[in-house]
Amino acid sequence: MSTQAGSAAPAEALGPGPAPGEAPAIRARGLTKLFKVGAFSHGASVHAVEDFSIDLYHRQVVALVGESGSGKSTVARLLAQTLPATAGAIELNGQPVRVRSGRQLRVYCHDVQMIFQDPFASLNSIHTVRYILGRSVAIHHPGLSRAGRTGQIEALLDKVKLTPPGRFIDKFPHELSGGQRQRIAIARTLAASPHVLLADEPISMLDVSMRLGILNLLADLRDELGLAVLYITHDVASARYFADQTMVMYAGRIVERGASEVVTQQPAHPYTQLLVASAPDPDHLADAAVGARGEPPSLIDPPPGCRFHPRCPLANELCRTQSPPLAEVGPGHEAACWAHSGQPGAPTMADRRRFPAVAPAGHRADPAGSEGGQR
Ligand SMILES: Nc1ncnc2c1ncn2[C@@H]1O[C@H](COP(=O)(O)OP(=O)(O)OP(=O)(O)O)[C@@H](O)[C@H]1O
Ligand code: SF4
Ligand SMILES: [Mg+2]
Repeated sequence: MSTQAGSAAPAEALGPGPAPGEAPAIRARGLTKLFKVGAFSHGASVHAVEDFSIDLYHRQVVALVGESGSGKSTVARLLAQTLPATAGAIELNGQPVRVRSGRQLRVYCHDVQMIFQDPFASLNSIHTVRYILGRSVAIHHPGLSRAGRTGQIEALLDKVKLTPPGRFIDKFPHELSGGQRQRIAIARTLAASPHVLLADEPISMLDVSMRLGILNLLADLRDELGLAVLYITHDVASARYFADQTMVMYAGRIVERGASEVVTQQPAHPYTQLLVASAPDPDHLADAAVGARGEPPSLIDPPPGCRFHPRCPLANELCRTQSPPLAEVGPGHEAACWAHSGQPGAPTMADRRRFPAVAPAGHRADPAGSEGGQR
């Protein structure tokens, strides 16, 4: 993968790890979401997310990668508490979160902000930047004079590198590029002085020339403001470039996680290998490239055992009947695959006669599909 298009370094060179004893900015354990479907479906549910856990630290970017329908946005909505979980627990800065409504929920929502895919839909086109940001400033900094509010708006524009602020403050959204609108959307979240940003595919609707600029901005906010960033993406190549850690989801479950460099360069799970081989287009997986076959499973009636087994060329009876736990496959690197378990009756990676060598992430993809972007 090329990193020449911007000044950012590869992810492993960015951002220190957590200090000893530091509590994660946000921690989740066992988050599960079942969506009931159909009034007469006798209790049928979509198993959108099962047993999702994460420790997301200040000054850290974690990428959540998976193909369409794997549960990524549901995870973000659960962490943002805009969707009630079926099961599981969340801690914010080391404190259990038990709020479901009222003032405490509003405080939580200030701390944990979401950035969405579509900067066109998220900004009201009849208002100027001054009005859009001014409203957020008024909510989060009540009692400011008019001049004080303008000062705050200008400071927000500065933080998202829309400078000089005077050039942008009286513009309407339609006068801005997609990347500039996404910067305004990010500035609006910063008005709340959040600890956590949940960025749900923040670059996927942007012109390729804007993408790297937005990723660099998020990296700068991580470093300058100490933000914890969850970066949701289809694109495993951009995860390597931008995220410190990468988690891979398949059919509602985490199947692999670890340092981005390791997960994307030495993927341990057959599904991650498939994603990497298919970059940059995970919704058209190059199944043949790794001997995989078929489509993602129905989440209303997910397959027993390993959810990837109907597609996996290694699958055997153990895979078809028992769900593999996430287990260590290297330092700080976990995968949920029996082939790494050494358990009697488990397949092994040596069985993958039809697997060719997996191309390294980024072999086919420029980071974020970028050909250079504004910073
Ligand atoms: N409100 C809902 N009711 C029923 N099913 C839902 C609901 N929201 C999401 N789902 C289902 O949950 C699963 C996970 O959806 P989710 O939107 O989290 O996936 P995703 O990984 O974000 O996909 P994409 O990459 O397309 O955005 C999908 O099968 C989806 O159809
Ligand atoms: S547990 Fe079995 S089916 Fe699942 S990914 Fe590993 S080898 Fe394939
Ligand atoms: Mg989504």
